[in-house]
Amino acid sequence: LIAARVKRVVYGCPDPNPIAAGGVIILQTAGIDAAEVPDPSARAEARALIARWAFAMAHHRPFVTWKLATTLDGRAAARDGSSKWITGSAARADVHLLRAECDTVLVGTGTVLADDPQLTVRDAGGHLVGRQPTRAVMGLRDLHPGVRVLDAAAPSTRLRTRDPAAALATLWAAGSRHVLLEGGPTLAASFHAARLVDEVIAYVAPTLLGAGLRAVGDLGVSSIGDALRFELDEATVVGGDVRITMRPTEARAERP
Ligand SMILES: NC(=O)c1ccc[n+]([C@@H]2O[C@H](COP(=O)([O-])OP(=O)(O)OC[C@H]3O[C@@H](n4cnc5c(N)ncnc54)[C@H](OP(=O)(O)O)[C@@H]3O)[C@@H](O)[C@H]2O)c1
Repeated sequence: LIAARVKRVVYGCPDPNPIAAGGVIILQTAGIDAAEVPDPSARAEARALIARWAFAMAHHRPFVTWKLATTLDGRAAARDGSSKWITGSAARADVHLLRAECDTVLVGTGTVLADDPQLTVRDAGGHLVGRQPTRAVMGLRDLHPGVRVLDAAAPSTRLRTRDPAAALATLWAAGSRHVLLEGGPTLAASFHAARLVDEVIAYVAPTLLGAGLRAVGDLGVSSIGDALRFELDEATVVGGDVRITMRPTEARAERP
């Protein structure tokens, strides 16, 4: 900008990353009129754009989005363990877009052993597209080296722990800033219990199973007053399913 002799710079919001900060001072020192956009709604839009990133910077851990596909009665798999497919193709394509927005996709060993998922970003034809997030598998059991989540299609990592905070610390140290928690009710329950879920994206299918795996494991809640509550951000019809985006209530934690 200095070399191009730009006269005026208007920026949306300062970068919370200390490594990237200080650009305004450099511009101003070079005589450029640099200032944050005065319009409050434009400032809010800019902040919303980087909200997850800013949260990670402020909390020194990746922002965690829990994604689940569930039936109307809150089941994540049928009694025989099958879960392909609870939702339709449009919802599944939407999940691939979600993955592309995150730098890490996290599942437990249970999901790998049950489904052998690829967890890559693919188009409707099944071809790899764009930047691939790192596929992380958490848990103590050994995995067969032939499982698809460890193949060469995309980066992958093993987290030999059952401690969500420790897993996030390892991912943060490796550069992760946004984790998509994609698997299983056991892992989801442990992240909720540790209050380490910052956003929920639920794909709800108009389907009943009546039995089978619950979408989330035991949270130790025995009374309605102790329920984990979320605020609704958005509800959208995606194909024949509904996508509901929510975040923990402000009472629980400060969230973007
Ligand atoms: N509908 C959906 O959105 C969805 C998504 C994913 C999976 N699923 C279904 O979920 C089923 C698998 O369920 P799951 O609960 O076994 O999967 P999971 O949560 O992915 O994996 C559970 C395993 O991860 C390890 N683990 C890692 N962190 C843990 C912690 N904090 N606490 C306890 N264990 C931890 C444990 O194994 P170790 O002994 O190795 O430590 C545990 O058995 C499959 O049927 C799959 O189809 C559904």
